[in-house]
Amino acid sequence: MKTYLVTGGAGFIGSNYILYMFEKYGDEIRIINVDLLTYAGNLENLKDVEGRPNYSFVKADICDAEAIGKIFAENDIDRVVHFAAESHVDRSIKDPGVFVRTNVLGTANMLNCARAAWEREDGTYPEGKRFLHVSTDEVYGSLPEGNGYFYETTPYAPHSPYSASKAGSDMLVKAYMDTYHFPANITNCSNNYGPYQFPEKLIPLMINNALQGKKLPVYGDGKNVRDWLYVRDHAKAIDLVQEKGKLFETYNVGGHNEKHNIEIVELIIDTLREILPDSDPRKAGVTRDLITYVEDRKGHDRRYAIAPDKIREAVGWQPDTMFKDGIRKTIEWYLSHEDWMAGVTSGDYQKYYEDMYKNR
Ligand code: NAD
Ligand code: DAU
Repeated sequence: MKTYLVTGGAGFIGSNYILYMFEKYGDEIRIINVDLLTYAGNLENLKDVEGRPNYSFVKADICDAEAIGKIFAENDIDRVVHFAAESHVDRSIKDPGVFVRTNVLGTANMLNCARAAWEREDGTYPEGKRFLHVSTDEVYGSLPEGNGYFYETTPYAPHSPYSASKAGSDMLVKAYMDTYHFPANITNCSNNYGPYQFPEKLIPLMINNALQGKKLPVYGDGKNVRDWLYVRDHAKAIDLVQEKGKLFETYNVGGHNEKHNIEIVELIIDTLREILPDSDPRKAGVTRDLITYVEDRKGHDRRYAIAPDKIREAVGWQPDTMFKDGIRKTIEWYLSHEDWMAGVTSGDYQKYYEDMYKNR
C-alpha cells in the first residue's frame, strides 16, 4: 500500500485531488493530509473521507521543519503531492511577504524533509519515492493576444509576487533534482475551476455576487484570457504523472480552453438565469446590468494558454470535461452548497472583500 503525503489538502485543488484518489484507489492507498488551515483551507471539503482508516489529517505549517520531519519519521512516505501555497494573485499584490514565506521557504522545507527521509548514504533513493510539486502556468509570464502557447521550455518570466514566489519554488525543485538527483516532477497547470473553490477567485466570486444581486467587478477591459481546466481533470493529470511520468520532467497541464474573462462572466449570468426557477426571488436580479468594469489588476497578465502536448504523449492524459459541461456542473454545485458558501464567506472573507474592492 502506497502512502501519500498531501500538503494543502484542505484547499480547493488539494481536496478535489484527495476525493478523486479515494474514489479511484479506495483502500489501496493511504493519504496523510497536512494543512495549516489558513483562510483557504476548509476540512468540510473532506467530510466524505473523514473517518476512513486510510486517511488522516495533521494540522501543521509546511515551513515547520520539526512538524514535517516528524510526519516523515513516523510514516514511510512513498509519494509527496505538494499543493500547499498562498494562491491568490490579488492578495500577493497587497501582501507579498507571506507568499515568499509559504511558497518559497515552505517548499524548501518540504524538499529538505523529504530528502532527509529518503536519500540513502550513497546519494540514491529507493525505487518508488516521488515528490510532485504542483505549480502554475503563471511562472511563464504573459502571452500576446491570439499568439503562441506556453511550453515546458518557455523561459520563466513571472510578473506578480505570487507567480514570482511559485517560480522560486519551481527553481528550488529543479535545483534539488539537478544537485541531489532528488526524485521529483513539476506540473504547471492553467486556471482550475470546479467545486470547493474559494470565492476570491473569478468564477465562484461571480456566482456568489450574482446570487446576492451584487455588482460583478470585471478588471480592466475584461479581455484578459485564461485557459480553464476542470479541477477533477487536473487531479487525474497529477495522478498520471506520478504513476507514469518520467522522473525529473516538467509537464504543463491545460485543456485548450481559452476564454476572455467577460465571456465567463456573461456565461455565468446566462446559466444562472437558465437554472434558477422563476419562483426564486433572486432570479430577477441576475442580469448583465450587474457587470461593472473596475480598475485593472496591477501588472495584469494578458493571456495564458498551455500547450498540453507533452503530458498527452507521455502519460496519455487529456481533459475529460468540456467547458460547457464543467461550468454548468460547477454552478449547480454552488447552488446546492449554499451552506458551504455561507460558511466560507462569513468573517474574514467579508473584511477581505470590502478592503479589496473598496475603490473598484
Ligand atoms: P488554495 O488557496 O485553495 O489552497 C491552499 C491550501 O494550502 C489551503 O488549504 C491552505 O490552508 C494551505 N496552506 C497555505 N499555507 C500553508 C502552510 N504554510 N502550511 C500548510 N498548509 C498551508 O489553493 P489551490 O487553488 O487549491 O492551489 C493549490 C496549488 O495549486 C497551489 O500550489 C497553486 O499555486 C497551484 N495552482 C493553482 C491553480 C488554480 O487555478 N487554483 C492553477 C495552477 C496551480
Ligand atoms: O493560471 C493559474 C493560476 O490561476 C493559479 O496559479 C492561481 O493560483 C489562480 O488563482 C489563478 O490565477 P488568476 O489570477 O488567473 O485567477 P483569478 O480567478 O484571480 O482571476 C482570473 C481572471 O479574472 C484574471 O484575469 C483576473 C480576472 N478577475 C478576477 C477577479 C477575482 C476579474 O476580472 N475580477 C475579479 O473580481
